[in-house]
Amino acid sequence: MPSILSADFANLQREIERVPGADALHIDVMDNHFVPNLTLGLPVVEAIRTITDKFLDIHLMIEDPDVWAPAYAEAGAESVTFHLEAAKAPVRLARELRSKGARVGMALKPATPVEPYAELLAEIDMILIMTVEPGFGGQKFLDLTLPKITKARELINGRGGDIWLQVDGGVSAETIERAAGAGADAFVAGSAVFGADDPDSMISSLRSLADK
Ligand code: DX5
Ligand code: ZN
Repeated sequence: MPSILSADFANLQREIERVPGADALHIDVMDNHFVPNLTLGLPVVEAIRTITDKFLDIHLMIEDPDVWAPAYAEAGAESVTFHLEAAKAPVRLARELRSKGARVGMALKPATPVEPYAELLAEIDMILIMTVEPGFGGQKFLDLTLPKITKARELINGRGGDIWLQVDGGVSAETIERAAGAGADAFVAGSAVFGADDPDSMISSLRSLADK
């Protein structure tokens, strides 16, 4: 799924129309506290909701997701992901998001291990493994995250649950096969998609590489 972080923010509607084949739109919310960058927030997500029926996958890179995340579910986002490094009460927050009809994602920065959170899997619908340090598009995929992707895949399969395993950061035609091989089944790509001459055909190419 394309990350609109690498899209033209002055022409979001036109940019969204360039990716009709996308399974979802990944929207990066940054607050300049959890990460050293500031992007967009609830009013922009609400505006995007009015112009597309696509699945909205919100990635909150913010402090205090316990306070802010539920509003994104209320705004009609199909999935809301918060960082475990920032959440104060992840179980309570996950339950609140589900009660508002959203799928729940929990995100981990590259250096955060997944094992301590195994017990949370019953409460969530997706694990997001960051494959770069969060904050910016266009960074290099970190291979050091591959063993964690494999570990997360083992934990998910061990539960027999239907939990998506998403990777985000540096995903491109060069790296997507490695991420898929390690066990990821949902892929965010920003610069690789919106930096391509034809973003929609890049999505198709990435999808076939991931399915190989
Ligand atoms: C980074 C964001 C990503 C970013 C990915 O903090 O979470 O979603 O847009 O951009 P690329 O695909 O260019 O690494
Ligand atoms: Zn993201």
